[in-house]
Amino acid sequence: MNYRVPRTRKEIFETLIKGLQRLEYRGYDSAGVAIDGNNNEVKERHIQLVKKRGNVKALDEELYKQDGMDLKVEFETHFGIAHTRWATHGVPNAVNSHPQRSDKGNEFVVIHNGIITNYKDLRKFLESKGYEFESETDTETIAKLIKYVFDNRETEDITFSTLVERVIQQLEGAFALVFKSIHYPGEAVATRRGSPLLIGVRSKYKLSTEQIPVLYRTRNIENVKNICKTRMKRLDSSTCLHAVGDKAVEFFFASDASAIIEHTNRVIFLEDDDIAAVADGKLSIHRVKRSASDDPSRAIQTLQMELQQIMKGNFSAFMQKEIFEQPESVFNTMRGRVNFETNTVLLGGLKDHLKEIRRCRRLIVIGCGTSYHAAVATRQVLEELTELPVMVELASDFLDRNTPVFRDDVCFFISQSGETADTLLALRYCKDRRALTVGVTNTVGSSISRETDCGVHINAGPEIGVASTKAYTSQFISLVMFGLMMSEDRISLQNRRREIIHGLRSLPELIKEVLSLDEKIHDLALELYTQRSLLVMGRGYNYATCLEGALKIKEITYMHSEGILAGELKHGPLALIDKQMPVIMVIMKDPCFAKCQNALQQVTARQGRPIILCSKDDTESSKFAYKTIELPHTVDCLQGILSVIPLQLLSFHLAVLRGYDVDFPRNLAKSVTVE
Ligand code: F6R
Repeated sequence: MNYRVPRTRKEIFETLIKGLQRLEYRGYDSAGVAIDGNNNEVKERHIQLVKKRGNVKALDEELYKQDGMDLKVEFETHFGIAHTRWATHGVPNAVNSHPQRSDKGNEFVVIHNGIITNYKDLRKFLESKGYEFESETDTETIAKLIKYVFDNRETEDITFSTLVERVIQQLEGAFALVFKSIHYPGEAVATRRGSPLLIGVRSKYKLSTEQIPVLYRTRNIENVKNICKTRMKRLDSSTCLHAVGDKAVEFFFASDASAIIEHTNRVIFLEDDDIAAVADGKLSIHRVKRSASDDPSRAIQTLQMELQQIMKGNFSAFMQKEIFEQPESVFNTMRGRVNFETNTVLLGGLKDHLKEIRRCRRLIVIGCGTSYHAAVATRQVLEELTELPVMVELASDFLDRNTPVFRDDVCFFISQSGETADTLLALRYCKDRRALTVGVTNTVGSSISRETDCGVHINAGPEIGVASTKAYTSQFISLVMFGLMMSEDRISLQNRRREIIHGLRSLPELIKEVLSLDEKIHDLALELYTQRSLLVMGRGYNYATCLEGALKIKEITYMHSEGILAGELKHGPLALIDKQMPVIMVIMKDPCFAKCQNALQQVTARQGRPIILCSKDDTESSKFAYKTIELPHTVDCLQGILSVIPLQLLSFHLAVLRGYDVDFPRNLAKSVTVE
C-alpha cells in the first residue's frame, strides 16, 4: 500500500500481479485480488474483488476485462491485496479462492495462508447468527467473524486493528492474514500465528525509526478501548514508523520476501500474534499477550539475498528445502486430525464412509513411484490396525494384469500431484467395478481428488522438487492415521494405538534430530559420489525405506541403485557383494532386528563394508559396520519416517557433488500425466 506516492490503477495491478507471480513457485490452483473500485471519491470506498481459477496469468487477463475499471485513475493512498491459493479446504474455483469476503457488499475482505482448525465451530456459530456462507473455505469464517465483531461493536470509533485483535483471539490453527475494509479506507491490518508474514518498507525519504516499538494491550476490554482511543488513533513517532518530512512511503505485506524484493529489501519480520496496522501513512505494531521472551521492538532488516535465493530460503534447491520442511509438513498433516489428549484421530474426508470401509473385503492401495513406496511402508501397520487384507499395487502393473476388483473392495489411490495418469486410470478401472475409491493426494481439486468417492488431503504444502520427499512422509502419516481411525473401537488394539499416537506426537522433534545429521551425511556423500552403484538393504517396516532411498539416489544422481529386501539376499543379490560394492543397510530395533543381523553377517562374510543406518542404542550392529548413521528411536511402524530422511539427504548431496541439477533431473517431470 502506498501513501502520497501516486499510483495508477494499472501500476497497482502490476505490483500485485508481479508479487503473485513471484510466489507461483509454491504451487497455485487459483488466485484473486481486492482493490478499490471506481467510486474513489466517497468516504467508504467500494471494494472490487476479482478471482479466478488457474494461474496468475489467468487472473491478470481477467483484471483487464472488468467493466468500468479505469486503469489510468490515480490513487494517492491505496491498499490492494492479492493471493494465490493452494487449496486445503474446498475445490479450487473462484468462490473458494481468496480474498474471502464478509458479505455481498465486500465490507471486509481477507487473504489467508494457513489452516484454521476450529473453523467448523466458528462457522456454526456465525450461521446461527444469520451469516450466510458462500464458499467451502476455512478462511471465509474469518471474513464473517470480523464483520460480526464490527456489527456488535460497543463503540463507534473502534479501530480496525482492535477488530482484528478480537478476531484472532477466536482462531485456532495457523494463519497469516491481511484485511481490507470499506469501513477503513486506505488502512491495512495484518497479523500472523504460525505462518510467515513480513512487511517491506520503501521510501526515498529517511525513515522515522529503524526499530518499531511494540505496543502491548491488556486483555481487558475497557483498557483495549482506552488504549485504542488514545494510542492507536494518535500514533506518535515513538510508536510507529513513517517517512520523515513527507508521507511518501510504501508498505508491502507478504508471506515471502520473493514477492516484494524488487520493490524493497528493507523488511520487518512479524512475530506470532503481532498485529500490524497501517493508517495515515504510519505503521504500528501491537500485541495482546506479552511473554517473557518477547522482544519489545521489531527491527527493519536489510535483505542481502537475490530473488532466487529467497524463494528457496537458505537452501540451494527446492528438494533440500522440502527435506528440511518435514518437521512442519508432518505436523501439518496431523494438525486438527490427531487428538493427542483423547488418543483419537478424525479424518473429515473419510468419516462418513468408515462403516462401509470396515465391512469391506480388502484394501487395495495403489500408486506409482514414491507414492507406491508410501503404500509399501504402511502395509503392515494397516493390516495390523484394520485387520483386513491389504494389497499394495503399482498402478501400471495393476492395470496390466487386469486385476480382479470387486464392489466390496476399498481402493486407495496415493498421489502427490493427483494427476498421475497410471494412478488415474487405475482409479477409473476400480470405479467401473463399483469399488469404493479413496484419494490420498496433496492437491485439492486434482483429478484424483475429484474423481474418488472420498479422501484425505495430506496437507504437505506444495512440492516443487521433482524428487518427492516431504510428500512421502506425509502420505505415510496419512495412511497411519487412517489405520488409527479404523481401529478406534478395537479394545485389543488400544495399547498399540496409544503407542503409535504417542509416537506421532514426537515425530516433528525427532525429524529435527535426524536433520541435524546433515553434515555427517554430506561427509559420507564425499566418500561415495564417484561410485557407479549403491545398494540399499533392509526388511520389514524398512523395506520401503530401501526402495524409496534407492529411487531417490537413481533419479537425481543417475547412479545405479537398488533397494533390496534383506530376506532375498541369499536368493541372488548376495552375488553383488564384495569389498568394492557400497552397501547401505537399514537395521532398526524392531521385530526384524535379529534377521537383519543375519543379513549383516552375510554381507561382512563377503568382505562387504556396510554403512549402517541404525538406532542410537544399537551397539551390536555398529561392531560390524564400516560406518554408522545413528538415528533416534520411535515406534517400529513409524521408524521408516525417520530412516528415509538420511537417504533423502544422501541422494541430494551425491547429486550436488556429481554436478547435477537436483530439482530438475534429466528425463523426469514432476507430474506424469501420460501412461
Ligand atoms: C520420485 C517421484 C515419483 C512420483 C510418481 C508418482 O521422487 O516423485 O516417483 O512419486 O511419479 O507421482 P504422484 O505421487 O504425483 O502420483
